[in-house]
Amino acid sequence: MEEKVDSNLSGLLKPKSIAIIGASATPGKIGNTVIKNLIDSGYKGDVYPVNPKETEILGYECYESILDVPGPVDAAVITVPAKFSIDVTKECGEKGVKGLIVITSGYSEVGRADLEEEMVRISQETGMRVLGPNIVGTLSNSDNMNASFAPFLPLPGKASLVSQSGALLIAMDAATYTRRVGFDKMISIGNMSDVNFSDMIKFLNEDPDTTCISLYIEGLKDGPSFLQEAKKATKPIVVLKSGVSAHGAAAAASHTGSLAGAAKIYSAAFQQAGVSQASDLDDLFDRTLVLSLEPPMKGDNLLVLTNGGGVGVLATDSAEAAGIPMRFAPEDVQTELKKHMPEFGSAKNPVDMTGMAGKDWYYKTTKFSFAHPWVDGLVLLYCETAMTDPQEIAEGIFNAISETGIKDKPVTVSFVGGEKCDKAMAWLVENGIPAYGAPDLAVKAMSTLRQYDRMKSLNDTSAFVPSNIDVRKARKIIDNARSKGRLALTEVEAKKVFDAYGLPITPTELAKTEDEAVTLANQIGYPLVMKIVSPDILHKSDAGGVKVNIKNETMVREAFKTILDNAKSYKADALIEGIAVQEMAPWATEVIVGSVKDATFGPTIMFGLGGIFVEVLKDVTFRVAPISLPEAKLMQDEIRSAAILGGVRGEAPRDKAALAEVLARYAYMIHDLKDEIAESDANPVIVYEEGQGVKVVDARIILTKK
Ligand code: ACO
Repeated sequence: MEEKVDSNLSGLLKPKSIAIIGASATPGKIGNTVIKNLIDSGYKGDVYPVNPKETEILGYECYESILDVPGPVDAAVITVPAKFSIDVTKECGEKGVKGLIVITSGYSEVGRADLEEEMVRISQETGMRVLGPNIVGTLSNSDNMNASFAPFLPLPGKASLVSQSGALLIAMDAATYTRRVGFDKMISIGNMSDVNFSDMIKFLNEDPDTTCISLYIEGLKDGPSFLQEAKKATKPIVVLKSGVSAHGAAAAASHTGSLAGAAKIYSAAFQQAGVSQASDLDDLFDRTLVLSLEPPMKGDNLLVLTNGGGVGVLATDSAEAAGIPMRFAPEDVQTELKKHMPEFGSAKNPVDMTGMAGKDWYYKTTKFSFAHPWVDGLVLLYCETAMTDPQEIAEGIFNAISETGIKDKPVTVSFVGGEKCDKAMAWLVENGIPAYGAPDLAVKAMSTLRQYDRMKSLNDTSAFVPSNIDVRKARKIIDNARSKGRLALTEVEAKKVFDAYGLPITPTELAKTEDEAVTLANQIGYPLVMKIVSPDILHKSDAGGVKVNIKNETMVREAFKTILDNAKSYKADALIEGIAVQEMAPWATEVIVGSVKDATFGPTIMFGLGGIFVEVLKDVTFRVAPISLPEAKLMQDEIRSAAILGGVRGEAPRDKAALAEVLARYAYMIHDLKDEIAESDANPVIVYEEGQGVKVVDARIILTKK
């Protein structure tokens, strides 16, 4: 069966022939609208209406069944009610249709997942792909095809949109004209019974008419494969994710669980995969425009040219907020630019040519700056004046940029003014230069290109794979706990699992008797910590079950007795496995590393500074496991309290390299044991001065239910 399936989706999304099953002669019905839309959009392929009651619809011969259609059929648009869809699917399979575009609603979204599953099952048996159900259809400018009930094709452009919401797709379709952001394809993906977002990324990444993949996502069904395809994609992907809630987080028992949440994990996953995340619909359009027209910004040197000081300052503020430093242009750049401005202009950065700047100055400064090797990205700002014509300035800019022939450096533009500015900007966009109505938006667009480049370069680094790990040892400990009916490992067991993955734990052993405790203490060395080990006592300190700073044998014996007495009076029937004897690590900077299993993406790693930073400030960051070493370093840099690891108030910097390895190893472990570990924490982890390493002081592992 496998080879029959249309894996490149071209039959479904670029069909040469389309049947409409449930075609209708009644204007206003969806089965009529789709045919009318195909005609209006200038579709050049064969169109076959199917309806047993009609002989002709909108000038096309109508067939009683798809089996009566004379020629081959690539795609069948289904517009019959859901209850007929199984029979119709069988007939399409028999006909050898390549893909179904199922507009019909009434499936999993209303509790009828069974209907949808049956449709996919039959389709897979007969080699068909299924788009939907519960969709608007699919539109493509380059194929002159509106196979949907959206009113018209979008403003032509180089981006393509995939939307989980049909209504939003229709709204965005119309908005492409007012927003001046062009799209080639708009594809409604609905219930994603078969074709999902990762299929779409793969298809659009290979589509010659698409330069930017724009997604509206409510919830992914295919988290790991989405990540994989997005990482592989060579075209930029921008996403608007809605419907983020704390699902799953509330149910999680561990510290990490309460700090996680769908929204944070989605954002982390997008960042890891190099996906640009929009904050709202406006932002989705803005990012799509720049990512569809411009290359990434490959360095931090941004040059801003303007005829107005005010917009220059606004641009500067926006650049700094976006993490792009506004550096002064080098001497040679300033010297050249000074030739195209009056005495009182400024050639630093932002470069203020003053209100006297006309077409000629814009042309010359743009051409020189864009070609200068120091400049990584150019933002051109213009304020409408009585002496200059916006259209002339736009043409000057366009000529300057095209004459350089440079294709691997980005430019964005903002004209601030009235109707003339709007028209000039529309002209610029039509000619492939992204233009925005406000200076901060032009800078923000540039920062999208910078962020995209940064994410993609990290994205090229492969996940860390540790050597010298002992998976069998880890699994043995886990199996042993399971055989005793426990899902929570004891601290001693959890540390041994960590140790099997090369994590630097403080040596910890279980003593069943006082004498054993003394022997172990002498082996480990002083000072020591002793802790109760009982599946019935989770909050060890509350039970008086922890003694620290034990310096000799006498203290070991004393602690052993006291801890046991305390535990018994705390919970008389508690099952006591023994007392953990462990090295007491000297204190330094405390951090927390943890993991939860996310419903969409699988195992995720969390990192943050410990103590108050976690409890009060919730200053933590997430990634989907596994991660690379550069990602592990970035995690340390992106928390708000990152400076503390760099060394504050005269303290020496902490060992960030050793910490990065711990994070990467930890992520490897939770990914490797993803079927076994539901949640885990290394808390606290102590980070010492540079070169002196890291120690995992406490460990927790909760196993998955099987
Ligand atoms: N083969 C061919 N034609 C058939 C068959 C069959 N086996 N069975 C029925 N038909 C014909 C019907 O006779 C009818 O034609 P007619 O107009 O000549 O009578 C036509 O198919 C359509 O069937 P109806 O019963 O009239 O159904 P109707 O057109 O009212 O609704 C529809 C069908 C549109 C698929 C509906 O069930 C539905 O799902 N609507 C929601 C669609 C939707 O909104 N999807 C997008 C969601 S996203 C968003 O919200 C924007």
